[in-house]
Amino acid sequence: MEFSIKSGSPEKQRSACVVVGVFDSRKLTLPAELIDKAAGGYLSDIVRRGDMEGKAGSTLLLHNVPGTLSDRVLLVGLGKEKDFREKEFGSAVRTAVKTLNETGAFDASIFLTELGVRRRSIGWRIRQTAMIALDATYKFDQFKSKKDDVRRPLRKLTLSVERRNELAAAEEALSQGIAIADGMALTKTLGNLPPNICHPTYLAEQAQAMATEFGLTCEVLERSDMEALGMNALLAVARGAHQPPKLIVLHYKGGRAGDKPVILVGKGVTFDTGGISLKPAAEMDEMKYDMCGAASVLGTIKAVARMALPINLTVIVPATENMPGGNATRPGDIVTAMSGQTIEILNTDAEGRLILCDALTYAERFNPETIIDVATLTGACVVALGNIATGLFANKDGLARDLLDAGEEAHDRAWHMPLWDDYQELLKSPFADIGNIGGRWGGAITAACFLSRFTKKHDWAHLDIAGTAWKSGADKGATGRPVPLLTHYLLQRTGKLN
Ligand code: BES
Ligand code: MN
Ligand code: ZN
Repeated sequence: MEFSIKSGSPEKQRSACVVVGVFDSRKLTLPAELIDKAAGGYLSDIVRRGDMEGKAGSTLLLHNVPGTLSDRVLLVGLGKEKDFREKEFGSAVRTAVKTLNETGAFDASIFLTELGVRRRSIGWRIRQTAMIALDATYKFDQFKSKKDDVRRPLRKLTLSVERRNELAAAEEALSQGIAIADGMALTKTLGNLPPNICHPTYLAEQAQAMATEFGLTCEVLERSDMEALGMNALLAVARGAHQPPKLIVLHYKGGRAGDKPVILVGKGVTFDTGGISLKPAAEMDEMKYDMCGAASVLGTIKAVARMALPINLTVIVPATENMPGGNATRPGDIVTAMSGQTIEILNTDAEGRLILCDALTYAERFNPETIIDVATLTGACVVALGNIATGLFANKDGLARDLLDAGEEAHDRAWHMPLWDDYQELLKSPFADIGNIGGRWGGAITAACFLSRFTKKHDWAHLDIAGTAWKSGADKGATGRPVPLLTHYLLQRTGKLN
C-alpha cells in the first residue's frame, strides 16, 4: 500500500473515499461536521434517523454525498468520546481499513488521524495508523492454490493532519510506521512458514539476503564452529535433529564506530517437539512458531536498517530444531555450556534456555551496551499473562522501565515480572551447577532465572513472548510482536520518536 500525508478539508478531497468518525451517540467529529455542512445537513440527517449511532466497530458507507468531491464517505463509529484512547483509536483505524478493502475504492483519505488521543502526538497517531493499516491488510496465502483475492484492494491511503505545521513530524512518523510494519511483516511470514521450509538453514539464508539488501554484516556459525566454541548446551538441543543448527549473527552499524551495540538475541527453535520429553500431539503444529523470537529480532533489525537509525545493533539467532531420535539428548544428561557452567538437562522440552544461554555467552564478545533476548520460552508465561502482555524480566530496573514505556508507546505492551534471588534456588541440581527446569510453579520466572546466570556481566532483559507471538484458533497466525515494542525502544534511545 502507498501512503501520503495531507492537510486539507474533507469535503474538498478528490478521492474514492473519505473516512470520518462519529462518536457514540450520534456526535459528528469535526471533519464529519465539515462534510455535513458542505452537504447541507446530509450526515446529521442520517445520524438522526438512527443509521449510525457511533458505536465502536460500526461503519456506514455513503455514496455521492452532495457538496463533496469524493465518490464515497465512510462513517466509522468510535464509541464514547470520553473512552476514546489508544486502543479505541487503533480499532477505529483497523475497522476503517478492513472496510475500505471490501469496497470498490482503490484510494482513500482518512481523517481519523486528526482525532485527539490524550497524551499522544500527531507522530504517534500517524505511526500507529500506518502500522495498523499494513497489519490489517497482511496476508499469508503463498500455499493456497486458489487465493481469495480482494477484488479491488485498497492501494493508496492519504492520512490527514489538521495543521500544515504538523506535516514534517507526520512525514517522519509515517516512514517509521511503514518501516516497523515492514519488519513485522517479515516476522509474521517467517513465523507462519511451515517448519519443513523454515528450518535453521532457511533462517540463515534469509539473514544473508537481508545483509546484502541493507549492507549489514552477517556471519553464520556451523555445528563445527559451535563445537570449537564449546556451545554444548545449544548442541545438546540440536543432537536429535537432522537439520543442521546455525548460529546467525547480523551487525547493523548506524552509530559511531566506538558506540557499544545493543544486542538482540532471538530464540530460533524452528520446530519444538519437546525432544525425548515429547510434547502431546494436540496443537503441536503451533510449535513451528517457536522461532518467533528469532523472527522478531530479524524483523526489528530490518526496520532499524530501513529507518537508518544512528545506533549499532547486533542480532544473534541460535537456530535449531528440537527433535527426538536415537542420538537425541536424554533427560539426565549433563553438559558444559560455553560459559563453563554445567547443566543437568532434566527435561529436553526446556530447550529454549539451553540454546539461549550459549547465544548470550557468545554475545559478550561484542562488548554490548545492553542485551535483550526474545523467546517463546514458557507455557507458564501464557498461563500468567494470556495473550495480551509479554512477560518482561530484567537485571536492571531502568532497562525494564524503558522497555515497559516503549511497549506502552507502541501499544505492544509488556508486564514486569520478578527476578528475585529467592527463585534461583529452584534451579538447584544435585549433580550439576544448575538444572534446566525449576519445578511446577513460577515456570516463566525460573526460566528467566536460568538465563540470568549467563548475563551477569551486562544490563540484560528477557521478553517471554510465548503468549503474544501468535494467535491460535480460526485466525491463526503470527502477530509480529514484539517488533513494535523493540523498534520503539530503539527509536526512543536515539531520540527519534516524535
Ligand atoms: N516452546 C515452549 C514454550 C511454549 C509452550 C510456548 C506453549 C508457547 C506455548 C518451550 O520450549 C517449552 O516447551 N517450555 C516448557 C518448559 C517446561 C518443560 C519447564 C513448558 O513451558 O512447558
Ligand atoms: Mn520446549
Ligand atoms: Zn520451545
